[in-house]
Amino acid sequence: MQDVTTLGFMQLLREYGAPDLIFTEYFRVHGHSTLERHIVDSILFHNTDKPIFAQLIGESVPDLERTVESIFSQELPVAGIDLNMGCPAPKVYKKNVGGGLLRDPKKIEEIFNCLKKCTPNYFTVKMRIGFECDKHFNEILSLINEYEIDLLSLHARTVKGGYKSEVQYEYIKDAARYLKCPVLANGNITSYISAEQILMDTQSQGVMIGRSSIRNPWIFKQIEQHLTGTKVFKPKLKDVRCYINDLYKMTKETSRDERARINYLKKFLNFIGTSVDKKGEFLYYSRRCQNQSEINKVADRYLINKGNAELDYPNEPLTGLIARPNCEI
Ligand SMILES: Cc1cc2nc3c(=O)[nH]c(=O)nc-3n(C[C@H](O)[C@H](O)[C@H](O)COP(=O)(O)O)c2cc1C
Repeated sequence: MQDVTTLGFMQLLREYGAPDLIFTEYFRVHGHSTLERHIVDSILFHNTDKPIFAQLIGESVPDLERTVESIFSQELPVAGIDLNMGCPAPKVYKKNVGGGLLRDPKKIEEIFNCLKKCTPNYFTVKMRIGFECDKHFNEILSLINEYEIDLLSLHARTVKGGYKSEVQYEYIKDAARYLKCPVLANGNITSYISAEQILMDTQSQGVMIGRSSIRNPWIFKQIEQHLTGTKVFKPKLKDVRCYINDLYKMTKETSRDERARINYLKKFLNFIGTSVDKKGEFLYYSRRCQNQSEINKVADRYLINKGNAELDYPNEPLTGLIARPNCEI
């Protein structure tokens, strides 16, 4: 995830339980693109011992080819190349890259043909079910078989559906049944329980988890424990308090400026805050913090004080939450 799966977050996940496969933030590929240093560093130094795939976003076949060659000529230790065909940001899809590619199966074919040939190890694809609708879905699945793509991560929404529309898991089931390669189910998998349910429902070979790993960095470990019949680690609110400390330390990587660090931290707190208190007070107050000491005060109050430390951190985000004040901190 752009601006989330940084080197710092990968290293943090190494401590909390890394996923079996990791996908980098995307390298932007265009006429004068070079490999972004911070993504290269995440490949070099994540130290999770897990295979990592370099994700590319772009539509120019020669530039994609040049980028893959550059990755391998520098001997970056990637397990493969992943093509982004899902990004829904208008400024991205308007350039016909990311999710924008889903409107153009001919272009997809050219890219598959090239990247399959020039990638010496695995070539994988991340996509949605279509741009506005599923018009080209079956055709793209055929191309995935024809060009022997090695793995598909399928976010079962359209590009226009953004991040909130209903996830249509039946498309993942169809893809898993039809494709020769493994399929990772993606979209709103929020806990080890829902991961198991979606694996069963879709018969996919695995799950890809995005936002819920921000809310709950233990999720990958929990899924593995649950599926292997081992006791599942259940974090307490005091563990979440430590997680926030770790996140704050991690922000040092992004900036030295306290204000910028706090703003970056708030991206993560926005997800964590969906599971702390039913009234959304943690969310309300943490959004208004200006510095580390204010964050610490809010985090201590809701995660440690008044016996909260030993309370379970909910498996799932709390529903019906409105971030609102109740009292002075
Ligand atoms: C902040 C953010 C950044 C993202 N960046 C990327 C990205 O760079 N590449 C990608 O394939 N998907 C990206 N995604 C999409 C996620 O990988 C995932 O497909 C989507 O969030 C749905 O899964 P989830 O419900 O588990 O989060 C991003 C999502 C978010 C919220």
